[in-house]
Amino acid sequence: QNCNIGFVGLGVMGKNLALNLADHGYRVAGFDLDSHKVQDVLDTEAAERPATSAQARIIGCSSIEDMLKQLVKPRVIVVLVPAGKPVDAVCQSLIEAGLEADDIVVDCGNSQWTDTIRREAEYKEKFKFFGTAVSGGEVGARFGPSLMPGGDADSWKYLQPMWEAVAAKVDENGKPIESNTPGKPVTEGEPCTAYLGPNGAGHYVKMVHNGIEYADMQLICEAYHLLRSLLGYEPEEIGKLFEKWNQGILNSYLVEISADILQQYDHKTGAPLVDMILDSAGQKGTGRWTSISATQMGVPAGIISESVYARALSTLTGERELAAGKLTADIESGEIEAEAVEKAIEEALYCAKICAYAQGFQIMRAAQKEYDWTLNFSDIAKIWRGGCIIRASFLQKIADAFDTNHELENLLLSDYFADAMATKQAGLRKAVVLAAQSGIPTPSFFSALAYFDGYRSEVLPANLLQAQRDYFGAHTYERVDAEPGEKFHTFWQEKGRPERKA
Ligand code: 6PG
Repeated sequence: QNCNIGFVGLGVMGKNLALNLADHGYRVAGFDLDSHKVQDVLDTEAAERPATSAQARIIGCSSIEDMLKQLVKPRVIVVLVPAGKPVDAVCQSLIEAGLEADDIVVDCGNSQWTDTIRREAEYKEKFKFFGTAVSGGEVGARFGPSLMPGGDADSWKYLQPMWEAVAAKVDENGKPIESNTPGKPVTEGEPCTAYLGPNGAGHYVKMVHNGIEYADMQLICEAYHLLRSLLGYEPEEIGKLFEKWNQGILNSYLVEISADILQQYDHKTGAPLVDMILDSAGQKGTGRWTSISATQMGVPAGIISESVYARALSTLTGERELAAGKLTADIESGEIEAEAVEKAIEEALYCAKICAYAQGFQIMRAAQKEYDWTLNFSDIAKIWRGGCIIRASFLQKIADAFDTNHELENLLLSDYFADAMATKQAGLRKAVVLAAQSGIPTPSFFSALAYFDGYRSEVLPANLLQAQRDYFGAHTYERVDAEPGEKFHTFWQEKGRPERKA
């Protein structure tokens, strides 16, 4: 009865998070329906166990009942099973195995936030349900993920020391402290975790993280596509250029791995490996959920949505093949100066990335009203600086912007990012023009520019749109010279008949 934490589910994420906790001195009791997985984590722990550690740091359990017996009270149990029904099935088994009201069940999967809200309420009498979203994949879970916790505030005091220990760490400049040696965990630095709010707050923030991840990835792919199609660069050359970009304002994990990917060759054919991969993108759904949530709340998040659609379009491989033989582009060719185009695409990527993050934070701003949360946007930017897939050095600038003004309406309005857009937007404009003239699809770049221009427009043609709505549906409109909220209707087809107040 001396284990600090239990695990149900020892798949890739469960196993690695359990080993991470063990490295930080916590004793783990692990259970999985598949006994091979239990054995696998025990074998790995035994192989990695430091000589100084006298006893096993992870205990294998043959049942949920057995696991509960190993834990100190209140018992903390991490559930790492596929999102959806399996989470409820595990909760049910835990209740049947004798879980008590003070015990804490932590769902560390990619659950939909609405499920977390429901579960927190549904299980209230039985135990405390807590959500913690984990980003960083297998390596992150093992050596330091970004953890996004949300749930019962009282439970946080039990989880906080453990979560802060295992989370990724950043140094005083906000740079991730890298580590990948079993048994030698990073213990100094600022942890990439913070309590985000009640019930579904953590899972919601992670979902938006993934929406931004979709945009970030798509924008890098569009930059690659432009460099390849406009300048005829080979993947390796683009990989080297990305390496260079990664030293500057675009410094990020996703640019870093893209540089690496583009410089790898296929063992079988000798071709660039990326050319041997089918151009049909998969998705598990978190980007789509972000886009749906934004749309439901009326938040403009076109870049994120376009990134979801771009994946969808890519899967139409058969139709695209047909269309490629039938639909032609009327292309305007002109002089292309490689160095200037490279610079434009680098700036375009930076500007579009700023706009994508601006949209992500706008979605969270709307969600906190919708769900009655008080999100700390500076904390969110800070816990994304290390461990997670979208980690990037400019997240420090986002944290600074929200630290300066917690009520900042939009990231684009912070001095730093307004200035960045002012000095670099020419690149985005140029990239979009070149893409349009050359028939190269760059939907997320287009969408970013449209968002930026739309957001900075004092006047938009929505006046005509309102008139159209009123014309065919008597939906009414507001007048620029009347009180806000006052509605008017015009009898459009009866010229001369005065408008009436609605
Ligand atoms: C992370 C990732 C992780 C996973 C995505 C993949 O933060 O560690 O986002 O959660 O890789 O869910 O999502 P898609 O399959 O939808 O691309």
